[in-house]
Amino acid sequence: MNKLSVILLFVLFTFSCKTNQPKGSLSEGNGLFQLFEVEEGREPFYSNKEGVFAKKGMVASAHVVASEVGKEILRKGGNAADASIATFFALAVVHPFAGNLGGGGFAVVRDTQGEAFALDFREKAPLAAHRDMYLDENGDVIKGLSLKGHLASGVPGAVAGMVELYEKMGTMKWADLLQPAIDLAENGVILTEGQARGMNNYKKTFQEVNGEDTPYFIQPDGREWQTGELFIQKDLAESLKRIQSDGAKGFYEGITADLLVKEMQDGGGIISHEDLETYDAVWREPIEKDYKEYNIISMPPSSSGGVALIQLMKLVEPYPLKEWGWNSAKTVQVMIEDERRVYADRAKWMGDQDFVKVPLKELTSTPYLSEIWASYNENKASLSSEIEAGKIPYYESDQTTHFSVVDKDGMAVSITTTLNGAYGSKVVVDGAGFLMNNEMDDFSIKAGVPNMFGLIGNKANEIQPGKRMLSSMTPTIVEKNGDLFLVLGTPGGSTIITSVYQTLLNVVEHGMNMQQAVNALKFHHQWLPDKVFMETNALETQALSDLLSLGYIMEIQNRTLGRMDCIMVHPNGVLEGASDPRGENTSVGF
Ligand code: DON
Repeated sequence: MNKLSVILLFVLFTFSCKTNQPKGSLSEGNGLFQLFEVEEGREPFYSNKEGVFAKKGMVASAHVVASEVGKEILRKGGNAADASIATFFALAVVHPFAGNLGGGGFAVVRDTQGEAFALDFREKAPLAAHRDMYLDENGDVIKGLSLKGHLASGVPGAVAGMVELYEKMGTMKWADLLQPAIDLAENGVILTEGQARGMNNYKKTFQEVNGEDTPYFIQPDGREWQTGELFIQKDLAESLKRIQSDGAKGFYEGITADLLVKEMQDGGGIISHEDLETYDAVWREPIEKDYKEYNIISMPPSSSGGVALIQLMKLVEPYPLKEWGWNSAKTVQVMIEDERRVYADRAKWMGDQDFVKVPLKELTSTPYLSEIWASYNENKASLSSEIEAGKIPYYESDQTTHFSVVDKDGMAVSITTTLNGAYGSKVVVDGAGFLMNNEMDDFSIKAGVPNMFGLIGNKANEIQPGKRMLSSMTPTIVEKNGDLFLVLGTPGGSTIITSVYQTLLNVVEHGMNMQQAVNALKFHHQWLPDKVFMETNALETQALSDLLSLGYIMEIQNRTLGRMDCIMVHPNGVLEGASDPRGENTSVGF
């Protein structure tokens, strides 16, 4: 028995795995996927964090307590939908940076029969919103108005989304799914280093938006939060109890709705009772496409994520990426060039499909992709100024968190949810204890003006009353030969799509296991600005100099890309939970 087999059997036995074992390629002989081969002297990973292995169920999320809550629901016999709902509400308490009641998101679900579903609970523009609401009398953008304070918020979709998911797929008692979050809000949660730091960092903005005595997020005596301190949120517990007893009505009507509307009126916002009462989460046809022996299932608009991911994958499918090697100059070049073209498409074609006709089929069709790829030249970098979205004939114009759950029967849920920026608009609804999103900034508030993620938009994503702002969130499920294989997703604004893309390619082309694929260093291009952002060491010196000599602008940034929370189903049925080492993300299985 060689060294590798010994390693893999040990992994199988203990359900724990060294992610940095420098051997192997993808094969199924040992019941677990083998490991990516690391060249001598190469450090392709952000860290050597290990995956979590378990047989019966797995929850991978941004906070260990939320993952534990989900796992307990699975252990009590709940399915992946039950566990996701409990995890969602727990994140709203323990991870207020992005977990929420006042935000929205997307869920992609694959049930035990292999049927796929997509749930859109994205926020909507309030009915009183209008196209130019963030522009001054000269037509210039009023800085910060779509980002901070009461006007920045869309109508929240989170609670409607969870109720919808429960009504279609839940099996346990609704009240039991809310109880862990209520207990955490009422009795407190111990602050991690990241949670304490986050609240301290935003203290000034909280005060600016809510006044000196911002409930919860600022200590009454003005002291900084300490790691290990108990964080209690009594008003939030009461809001959660109203959802527990009355479902969607417990949020969109009654006391919580009154508090929210009052908060808006007092702070100059425009969300009304009518906005809340008419909000609906909608089931949509998931976007699906094959890639070799895999089937990618992802989110259609109002997120651009699924279409973009599939365009990216289909554009590189003909190339021998595995042979060229992970992050070699050739591999990276085709990836940069497809990212450039796909983000140009995103800016032109994508918006809420309830308001604009998004040409979903055309955008992912082979003739269309061949057309946008025709300008690719392997001898030099394309220029974004010369790349436009493709033409579609006969077309009629008219701080986030992700978690993944798999249960014992193979049901999978992939949910990305957000308030947009860290703590959203920073508005805390007085008396209700939750933060409001600043999702309005995801609209194209003025054609051609970049949003907080540098994304450009156009008519398809302009503000209209009741419309959903375009998202990049990419909750994704991948099948292999018809069976559940991967559950993927991450926060990261515009970089969500490219992080999911690279993580997926790392597995299906480069033979990484789930945790390796998450740990692997990443890069990003989004058409405009015309540069490639890289994590430190993402590219070797030779690859970097080859790309520079082809004319690419390569920028190492002092930031990380992605906070992935993913699950892989190994050939022997073992689940590998892989939570990103770049944050406090944690997988818990049993
Ligand atoms: O929907 C979107 O694409 C953005 N609102 C996501 C924001 C996000 O990922 C922030 N977290 N890093």
